[in-house]
Amino acid sequence: MTLKSALNIEDLRRLAKRRMPRVVFDYIDGGADAEYTMRENTRAFERITFRPRCAVPPTRCEVSTTVAGTPLSFPLVLAPVGSSRLFHPDGEPAAARAAGEAGIAYTLSTLSGSRLEDVRAASKGPCWYQLYLCGGHDVARAAIARAKAAGFSALVVTIDTPVAGLRERDFRNGHKGLLTRRPLEMLPHVGQFLARPRWLASFLKDGGLMSFPNIVLPDGPMGYADVGAALEQSAVCWDDLRWIREAWNGPLIIKGVHTKEDAVRAVDAGADALVVSNHGGRQLDGVPATLDMLPEVVDTVGSRIDVLMDGGIRRGSDIVKALCLGAKAVLAGRAYAYGLGAAGGEGVAHAIGILKADFVRTMKLLGCPTLAELDGSFIDAA
Ligand SMILES: Cc1cc2nc3c(=O)[nH]c(=O)nc-3n(C[C@H](O)[C@H](O)[C@H](O)COP(=O)(O)O)c2cc1C
Repeated sequence: MTLKSALNIEDLRRLAKRRMPRVVFDYIDGGADAEYTMRENTRAFERITFRPRCAVPPTRCEVSTTVAGTPLSFPLVLAPVGSSRLFHPDGEPAAARAAGEAGIAYTLSTLSGSRLEDVRAASKGPCWYQLYLCGGHDVARAAIARAKAAGFSALVVTIDTPVAGLRERDFRNGHKGLLTRRPLEMLPHVGQFLARPRWLASFLKDGGLMSFPNIVLPDGPMGYADVGAALEQSAVCWDDLRWIREAWNGPLIIKGVHTKEDAVRAVDAGADALVVSNHGGRQLDGVPATLDMLPEVVDTVGSRIDVLMDGGIRRGSDIVKALCLGAKAVLAGRAYAYGLGAAGGEGVAHAIGILKADFVRTMKLLGCPTLAELDGSFIDAA
């Protein structure tokens, strides 16, 4: 299979698996603990079936929308995905560029391997900045100021990462040993790199193990090995939303809402939008699929702010289902990360193209010409 012949996101996943070493592929592909929540995220879409309206007069399908002030050519945003530069050199700018060309927004993770200014400059479309408080408040404030100056149009604050989830695949693949850079601890795990010479050559050409240039500590950018500890020392609390709201006067989006109770807190904190998200099943294993939590959040706060969701989006029809349940738009993480791992920016463009074509086709097959008309009457939720 080649990129051109990849018909769906699963095809891109297979191509990514073929190009990247196991430790990098599984970093994308895996979830926390038993991966129950990660699997549920995708299964929840399979439990929902459509109720189409047939033989309706064909009209032009209008799928553009606006979320938290950001216009989107269709209701998809690329989710923040840390360390994208490991998947492909130029990872973050390439993904941002592909999103911009498709008329959708790209969300840059704090844990980016590229400078936020370079990523912003690479795209002619909207970019959002995702905030972790790694390094403390002053370091985060400096990043917020840089994101504002560079022209990011929304700030996404992730609230579900007080510690990193236990991603068992990372441990089994030697993630920890490899990061020590001590030859004896690295040695048992280097075979996986030698098995992927194309990836290895591009990684080494890109300078090898990276740092995080948007987390600038007193002694320079934070190193790659420090992430786990840094996350643990920098959990976001609701009180932090006050100073963050003051430091960032543009649209604020809270990501990682699981319940209606936290949805109300997000509204009270002054959010313009929230993302119902369990981090793609990478944090607390055992929480329900986000699609299953979406209705209670929409019922509680949907009339006051834009409710987005992520987790398990693999087809354009999944986006339609989420919208039928009240989401204004969705974010996708792995769907484009596989594309990036498979073929860089071209792979991301291909992933977005697949999702958009699926989305429009599904709308037409449903007999629904506009986003405004999509509602629960087009689905059966078992
Ligand atoms: C490899 C990887 C890295 C991620 N890094 C971040 C991150 O840095 N910040 C964040 O808020 N979410 C992060 N996420 C979570 C995504 O933003 C998103 O919530 C999740 O991928 C959605 O599920 P999906 O992958 O099934 O689409 C990451 C996800 C993946 C797969």
